[in-house]
Amino acid sequence: MDPDACTAMAVETMRRNDRGAYTVPTAGLYPYQWNWDSAFAAMGFARFDPARAWTELETLMVGQWADGMVPHILFHEADDGYFPGPEVWGCAGPVPSSGITQPPVAMTALRAVWGAAPDLGRAGPLWDAMARWAAWFARHRTEGGAVFVTHPWESGRDNAPDWDGAMAAIDPAGVGDYVRRDTGHVDASMRPTKADYDRYVWLVRRARDEGWDAEGMRGRHPFRVADPGTTFILMRGLRDLIALGPALGRDAAALEGIADDVAAGAAALWNPEIGCFDARDLRTGAFAGAVTSAAFLCWYGGAARGGMDAHLARVLDAAPYGVPSLDPADARFDARRYWRGPVWPFMNQMIGTGLTEAGLPAGERLRGVTRDLLAASGMAEYYDPRDGAPAGGRSFTWPAAVWLSWAHAEGAIP
Ligand code: GLC
Repeated sequence: MDPDACTAMAVETMRRNDRGAYTVPTAGLYPYQWNWDSAFAAMGFARFDPARAWTELETLMVGQWADGMVPHILFHEADDGYFPGPEVWGCAGPVPSSGITQPPVAMTALRAVWGAAPDLGRAGPLWDAMARWAAWFARHRTEGGAVFVTHPWESGRDNAPDWDGAMAAIDPAGVGDYVRRDTGHVDASMRPTKADYDRYVWLVRRARDEGWDAEGMRGRHPFRVADPGTTFILMRGLRDLIALGPALGRDAAALEGIADDVAAGAAALWNPEIGCFDARDLRTGAFAGAVTSAAFLCWYGGAARGGMDAHLARVLDAAPYGVPSLDPADARFDARRYWRGPVWPFMNQMIGTGLTEAGLPAGERLRGVTRDLLAASGMAEYYDPRDGAPAGGRSFTWPAAVWLSWAHAEGAIP
């Protein structure tokens, strides 16, 4: 595809997934509003329909719970094609929702949308809501400053090797019967395994039985893993909220305190054995021992460390289309299985943005290969890192948004 055709396809994909006040990641496989997908959608809309970009963020924040949590899925309209639906989660927020959050890219999207189309009346309430979300992270999801997740889905990297140790320690006995819907949309070889799914569902039921008690989860929940991805993304989001504060007449002092703690937490996720940032099981203290794409968000978060550039050069040599979700040299690497190998363009965007800001040429290189990848393979959920073949679901919102807001953010869009 030439760039103009790709731009047209990106706009068309976003319009097709637009449900009026929010976008779905893709029809069928993911028919609701997902938290970090929507953040990227807002940045994509900012390029050709800024009013719609503001609406995307506002609809997301409408789902915010009284304690500040912003759910990872908002079930605005019933759809039988997805499991587990609202009846399984059993949550009582303002909109039917899941009971966990997702990485807060929306904080960064707020600043990006403001940059494209400043609107005090719309930005102010969003900033306030996001500051409450940041305080919720600090209160309920940090230990020593590092952000931990209470379910693999909370990280957004569902079946990454980061969670293998904690998942293996769970006995999903009594999970009961359930019917997966994802494998009706996409080939099972590209999706998480049945063993993973049993534990995903078991963890949801367990937290539901405990009444989604955030404070109780901190001490008792059987899955608590510090996640470098969410930690770096929160660092970044805090920086963007703090930078935006004065223009909106907001006092960011409380956020500055949180940012200092999270920065200290990020430093503690350095695994000296592999010389890389790494996930850490809080119940055992064990590191996952995996070089994943989340570690390369360190520049984006503002916590880079010597040695990360060498890891990056090594994985990019083996994966010409950008940062694979797992190091191809790792025995667990699986080129088409979700977060155990494939390239996800929005991760390229965050990693590339951080590298460019740090003055490293790898950022532009990453942008170039992402442009080539999307122009060659269209708007897929993710891609095989060896040959760029599209994989998973098709007609996805976030690669379209990545094309528009970063990979080829050029020219007017009719
Ligand atoms: C999968 C991804 C997650 C994403 C969701 C919707 O669960 O792992 O990151 O938000 O799909 O696209």
